[in-house]
Amino acid sequence: MADSNSQVWQRGTVHSAQEIASGIRRIVLRPDKPHAVRPGEHIDVRVPIDGTSSVRSYSVVDASPDGSELAISVFLSPASRGGSAFMHQLEPGQVLEMTQPLQNFPLRVGAPSYVLLAGGIGITAILGMAALLRRLGATYRLVYAARSRSAMAYASQLAELHGEQLQLHLDDEGTSLDTRALVHSVPVGAELYMCGPIRLMDAVRRCWLDRGLDPTNLRYETFGNSGWFEAEPFTVRVPRLGVEATVHSDESMLEALERTGLDMMFDCRKGECGLCQVRILDLNGHVDHRDVFYSDRQKEPNSKMCCCVSRAVADDARQPGPASVTIDIS
Ligand code: FES
Repeated sequence: MADSNSQVWQRGTVHSAQEIASGIRRIVLRPDKPHAVRPGEHIDVRVPIDGTSSVRSYSVVDASPDGSELAISVFLSPASRGGSAFMHQLEPGQVLEMTQPLQNFPLRVGAPSYVLLAGGIGITAILGMAALLRRLGATYRLVYAARSRSAMAYASQLAELHGEQLQLHLDDEGTSLDTRALVHSVPVGAELYMCGPIRLMDAVRRCWLDRGLDPTNLRYETFGNSGWFEAEPFTVRVPRLGVEATVHSDESMLEALERTGLDMMFDCRKGECGLCQVRILDLNGHVDHRDVFYSDRQKEPNSKMCCCVSRAVADDARQPGPASVTIDIS
């Protein structure tokens, strides 16, 4: 029998789709083979891009008890040529290919207390955890940060459910999250679960380690969709195999290499497992390391990168034209 995280592809029918915040669409799906959903789970969905299909992961925001209806929420990436743009044009009755719910971000029940932290669309991975902790009567705090109220999905629903446990931070109202203050307010022994932009999560991780808190109590979901720099097209070359490809701004280097027919190694596709790592032979520009697999020390020499999430970026001051990276794969 397949384990719970083996991908089983099936058809899912769109039951409803509506915009719930600026650039965020809530899509309710009815899978052919329903499966009960646990907090922290996501589904993978096949989306067409330039005539081929790519896989995108979306957290399950909420679901009926038997999983016969489940909701995801999709942020429309401004540079999208296919992924989120495809999801945003879905209408009721349309059918797509999806997996059963997959678990990479489990909530450990029984901690003395919890802090749940969401940045922007990262709320989709956190919302179900908060609901479960409330039902269990656990001690928790839900911290939700976004650019503005209009970009904040589910804010009123969360306020109603969590009351004083919910703490909102809005950049355009001058109440941006102070990550240092947040981490210093976490009781020793508490677990912190977070999902959001890499800058936010990296800042929390650094403060967490600076404070000497137990690293195993800090848990996160990445989805590898945000970096230190804007995604831009770049060229990847694999001279040993005679391969060259353009990596478009809304696809990963792994996807671009797969498009050329290379048989690539990967597992998580989220910058967590390191299976997709490639050796960098030459670099024109610099690397936007978006993974959480390497330590800062390992990232620094730019000798390897996780090609499922990390990208090459032009170095404006010294380099005209797009970045390029020459690699070898094992
Ligand atoms: S596939 Fe897991 S880090 Fe890239």
